[in-house]
Amino acid sequence: MGILGLHLISLLCLIPSLMCQVTEFVSIDCGGTSNYTDQSTGLAWIPDTEITGQEKSAEVENPKGNLLRYQRRRDFPTDGKKYCYTLSTEKRRRYLVRATFLYGSSTNETTYPKFQLYLDATKWSTVTIQDASRVYSKEMIIRAPSDSIDVCLCCATTGSPFISTLELRPLNLSMYANDYEDEFYLKVAARVNFGALIKEAIRYPDDPYDRIWDSDLDKRPNYLVGVAPGTVRINTTKNINTNTREYPPVKVMQTAVVGTQNRLTYRLNLEDFPANARAYAFFAEIEDLGVNETRKFKMEQPYIPDYSNAVVNIAENANGSYTLYEPSYMNVTLDFVLSFSFVKTRDSTQGPLLNAMEINKYVQIAMKTDWQEVTILHALRSIPTGSNRLDEAGDPCVPVPWEWVTCSSTEPPRWNLLTFLSSELSHKNLNGEIPSELKNMERLEELWLDGNSLNGPIPDLSNLVNLKILNVENNSLSGVIPSELLTGHVLFHYEGNPGLKRGKKHKIHSALILGTSIGALVLLFLLFSGSLLLLRYIRHKASRQRNDEKGTSQRTSTKHSTAYTISRGGTFMDEGVAYYIPLNDIEEATKNFTQNIGKGSFGPVYYGKMKDGKEVAVKIMADSSSHGNKQFATEVSLLSRIHHRNLVPLIGYCEDEQQCMLVYEYMHNGTLRDHIHGAPLSPYNSANRKHLDWLARLSIAEDAAKGLEYLHTGCNPSIIHRDVKTSNILLDINMRAKVSDFGLSRQTEEDLTHISSVARGTVGYLDPEYYANQQLTDKSDVYSFGVVLLELISGRKPVSTEEYGTDWNIVHWARSLIRKGDVISMIDPSLSENAKIESVWRIAEVAIQCVEQHGASRPRMQEIILAIQDSVKIEKGNEKITSGSSRAQSSRKTLLTSFLDVESPDLSTGCLVPSAR
Ligand SMILES: *[C@@H]1O[C@H](CO)[C@@H](O)[C@H](O)[C@H]1NC(C)=O
Ligand SMILES: *[C@@H]1O[C@H](CO)[C@@H](O)[C@H](O)[C@H]1NC(C)=O
Ligand SMILES: *[C@@H]1O[C@H](CO)[C@@H](O)[C@H](O)[C@H]1NC(C)=O
Ligand SMILES: *[C@@H]1O[C@H](CO)[C@@H](O)[C@H](O)[C@H]1NC(C)=O
Ligand SMILES: *[C@@H]1O[C@H](CO)[C@@H](O)[C@H](O)[C@H]1NC(C)=O
Ligand SMILES: *[C@@H]1O[C@H](CO)[C@@H](O)[C@H](O)[C@H]1NC(C)=O
Ligand SMILES: *[C@@H]1O[C@H](CO)[C@@H](O)[C@H](O)[C@H]1NC(C)=O
Repeated sequence: MGILGLHLISLLCLIPSLMCQVTEFVSIDCGGTSNYTDQSTGLAWIPDTEITGQEKSAEVENPKGNLLRYQRRRDFPTDGKKYCYTLSTEKRRRYLVRATFLYGSSTNETTYPKFQLYLDATKWSTVTIQDASRVYSKEMIIRAPSDSIDVCLCCATTGSPFISTLELRPLNLSMYANDYEDEFYLKVAARVNFGALIKEAIRYPDDPYDRIWDSDLDKRPNYLVGVAPGTVRINTTKNINTNTREYPPVKVMQTAVVGTQNRLTYRLNLEDFPANARAYAFFAEIEDLGVNETRKFKMEQPYIPDYSNAVVNIAENANGSYTLYEPSYMNVTLDFVLSFSFVKTRDSTQGPLLNAMEINKYVQIAMKTDWQEVTILHALRSIPTGSNRLDEAGDPCVPVPWEWVTCSSTEPPRWNLLTFLSSELSHKNLNGEIPSELKNMERLEELWLDGNSLNGPIPDLSNLVNLKILNVENNSLSGVIPSELLTGHVLFHYEGNPGLKRGKKHKIHSALILGTSIGALVLLFLLFSGSLLLLRYIRHKASRQRNDEKGTSQRTSTKHSTAYTISRGGTFMDEGVAYYIPLNDIEEATKNFTQNIGKGSFGPVYYGKMKDGKEVAVKIMADSSSHGNKQFATEVSLLSRIHHRNLVPLIGYCEDEQQCMLVYEYMHNGTLRDHIHGAPLSPYNSANRKHLDWLARLSIAEDAAKGLEYLHTGCNPSIIHRDVKTSNILLDINMRAKVSDFGLSRQTEEDLTHISSVARGTVGYLDPEYYANQQLTDKSDVYSFGVVLLELISGRKPVSTEEYGTDWNIVHWARSLIRKGDVISMIDPSLSENAKIESVWRIAEVAIQCVEQHGASRPRMQEIILAIQDSVKIEKGNEKITSGSSRAQSSRKTLLTSFLDVESPDLSTGCLVPSAR
């Protein structure tokens, strides 16, 4: 009876607390269609239909393990807007927020989506899909700043933003509390369960807080590599006391790894690092140690002076076996590649042990728009309107402003509303009253509400000291016009409101003034001069404000701020940076973008002729929204400083509210691609298509190589092109080659680390090492350039199943031919008569080095230039046959023997000389 009673009590305790937990969880199945309960966890999932509304949801092709929540995803349009989910929170309570992304397979697409994820105004993560069948999970630990948070998606650079699930999990008491939580969120970078029994992660219900504890058996690129020899996995079924602050699940603590050869080491990549982090190690002794046995160890890497010398003795630190010891580092700076190692101390009998670890990056909380201004905006959009265009969610300004709001940044970075775009509230079927909250909007300069059906009185606007234009024409307003609007300081339009009346006070005033004495006239004069001074002050202030706005405003109205746009261009010119070309001039030059001459890496390219006769190519940046004007401006200013005769010169740029444009010098002979492979779709080029003989190809290769070499070594910071290909090598009127499309879209973090979150480039040219590791180096360009060289030799396309069959791409195909010593079969049939085999060999040799698997084995651009110059000499016959061929031959031997080391098929008979000779 006693035992039964105990059981009953524990059951009673368990069930309500579980139920309570479950109801507090918010689990949204984005793109889902109905409510359901996940059988395995008992968690209730709800669809996001009521949260989003009009966006489409898409079937996922290879849903993960039949999990209902991954059957569908929610896709958002790529329209430059942000799309937000608002989640209710309890202010100052800590939560785990998790968003997951499963794209599903898609045979047709060459690029997967890449977009931004925000939590309120704070940039959370760049979501980059590389594997369509993997669930990408982003977790943030926050202390709720208010009674709701917004999770927003925006700014796709490729594909369209989407989301699979969104989860909100309240945490208990002081879990994950830290010294910096007023200013920082914690972004989960790694949470690993060591010695895991299965490959799947541990989460709810094993972890009552539904954290995801990844299994160390999970196989991903760069995830837990460099494991020390002698590492063994141990497990126990005994209970473990995990009553520490973070309450890790018992199941996670029941497994561990032990370094039986004195050492535990691991290496893993931390997304978005280097950064400052909060790091936790979880240790629990789960082996029954003998009386004489001890387990003591130190952390050797990363070396943190205050901690690395401390000896960990788990049982002693935790005061007992099967009890958790949880040391943590409040603030530690870690690199992108985290190598860590624990080493046994000399007097210890057992090797180091590790159950789990967690590393969270400090992410600075970005300020949201001032709540007072948001209140006004909410009031404004609460005016009933015919369309739902005012239904945008999230912060009005960040990461991208609402469509009808203009924002500017101030220092320290805080976003504010400045003006309403004049055209955005005109003729919008607004009805109801003008909200009185407007009176708090001190910095409002213009307000256009004309052509709506607003009624009621005009509210008191006397606080709006900066208001210059107020247009309420053609509404149904009534009442008395506030006198301050009639003083002339405000350009006030109110015709077409039959109910609106001028007050009588003014007449009385003037009558009074008329009747005053000369003394009063003197007073009036004083007042007048005073107001002149005031006016000057206001103008000064206004112009300063405009200057602040410059370069950072997210949207500019072409209709109303032509002068302002020009002044912006002017400033760029003042700095000697780039030359701003007004949209009108570009439209005129391109005859309204009629002559499309191709497609650049970022969008269409149009031919144009400027007034001064200069021929130009205008590149439209199709995804300018994701750049943000500030970044665009930075890029332009960087690019305009780069001059080299083998780089296509940037003449100027243009920013328009929709897009950014770059204006380049026009290259008369089109792209190298057109000349090698033909350009059926571009009539303007096919007319000019020239046959390129071998020397012409060498000279083009040399030019392009010099352009790239300059980008790599001549620029500071050095520039990695990232998209080297034949269609980015352009030929001028003299058939000199120039490299184009360089230096765009460099991300700031890459400037520091050269690590990007997605491999950008073109299929067939993309460096496989970069693709695998995302570690961008100049050797990635070398790889792509190697492919270009192979194209020049063979006249074949980089990727084609027709041409290469199972080899699939030019690299595999060329490599196998060169291994056999058969360069003849590689040569473009239209060349073979003229080209000297020795010269072609020299290029084939360097090309094959360029496409080496490992960047470190590839030559530098400088060496490639030398090889090309060698080849030119050989071709021209300048190099004496004796010395020349022996040199070329000896290097070829090195090349071939290096292949022999790897694979030794047909060459074993001493046939090192190519069959052609
Ligand atoms: C789905 O669940 C939510 C929250 O529990 C509830 O408000 C909604 O009415 C449910 N919808 C349906 C169709 O059952
Ligand atoms: C590729 O997309 C087109 C339409 O965009 C479609 O008709 C075709 O079936 C798709 N092919 C495959 C293999 O999915
Ligand atoms: C929350 O924390 C308190 C105090 O540390 C603890 O007693 C309680 O069990 C915790 N709740 C859960 C659900 O873990
Ligand atoms: C768990 O530990 C036992 C020994 O204690 C071992 O036999 C077993 O293989 C371990 N299980 C796993 C999955 O490692
Ligand atoms: C962590 O330490 C670094 C360097 O000591 C310091 O700059 C930073 O402000 C600290 N705090 C956070 C949250 O990064
Ligand atoms: C413990 O060590 C002592 C002396 O070092 C030895 O005499 C004793 O046999 C050891 N006991 C066990 C259980 O190994
Ligand atoms: C360690 O545990 C023992 C009993 O297991 C207890 O008497 C002692 O007070 C504990 N020490 C600390 C510091 O908690």
